[in-house]
Amino acid sequence: MQTLNSNTTTTQATTTCPRPLGLVPTMGALHEGHLALVRRARAECATVAASIFVNPTQFGANEDLATYPRDMERDLGLLEAEGVDLVYAPTPEEVYPPGFDTWIEPGALAERLEGAARPGHFRGVATVVAKLFNVVRPDRAYFGQKDGQQLAVIRQMVRDLNMGPEIVAVPTVRDADGLALSSRNAYLTPEQRQAAPVIYRALSEAQRLWLDGETGAGRLRAAVLEVLKSEPLLGGIDYVSVADAGTLEELEQVAGPAMVSTAVRLGQTRLIDNVLIGSA
Ligand code: PAJ
Repeated sequence: MQTLNSNTTTTQATTTCPRPLGLVPTMGALHEGHLALVRRARAECATVAASIFVNPTQFGANEDLATYPRDMERDLGLLEAEGVDLVYAPTPEEVYPPGFDTWIEPGALAERLEGAARPGHFRGVATVVAKLFNVVRPDRAYFGQKDGQQLAVIRQMVRDLNMGPEIVAVPTVRDADGLALSSRNAYLTPEQRQAAPVIYRALSEAQRLWLDGETGAGRLRAAVLEVLKSEPLLGGIDYVSVADAGTLEELEQVAGPAMVSTAVRLGQTRLIDNVLIGSA
């Protein structure tokens, strides 16, 4: 496994590698969710590249950039064990040199849900992902359904800007009790960790109701909210959404693919999760 920090050596390496080339973008602190993306890429691509970069431009001023978990040595060991060929792990200066001043501004899709709670977040995500694509030049790029809105924003960017890579979505990996794996779960106290599965229980209730024939989005939102509110440790509920899976516009009726999503606070930690309904 090659680990490269510079843009030019990375592009040189990927110019001559066997194709298809799959890229798994990450911010490190790897867990089984990330590794599911790597395994899918390994199964489908002749060459697998992963990137590790804690992207400062997608963090808000009051967010956890400084304390975001970092363990490069452990991450490289995990990626090597999965048979990754190349890791691109640039410094912030390599990605954003002095004078950097060009941005990708996603549209309405990025203003809802996470975008409303985290202004500028998806501008940072879209910009860094576009740069990763330009440096690594993959044929396919792998993203988790866990961050459903991020996936939708990237799909739209690729479509709108005629970018090359095919975007592959990988289902959310969960702990046995349903909690979606996330690097931020490490912030939870034991009590908060015990309470956290309420998020998936609430989303699963909407899934169950929909399977039973409920298509009213308002009633699905109310059902999710009711389960969430049953957990006293939950500090706040940023949103409960039942939205079109492509545009993320809030629905009145679920008639096609839809995403049921929520963002909640457990102490200082903000957790997001979603489930898909209405698709075949
Ligand atoms: P990060 O949070 O490290 O996640 C990297 C990828 O792993 C994302 O595509 C995310 O959706 C996926 N992932 C995280 N937890 C998952 C889980 N439990 N199951 C399945 N997939 C999961 O997302 C980012 O980094 C950044 O925004 C990035 C795209 C790298 C741009 O900076």
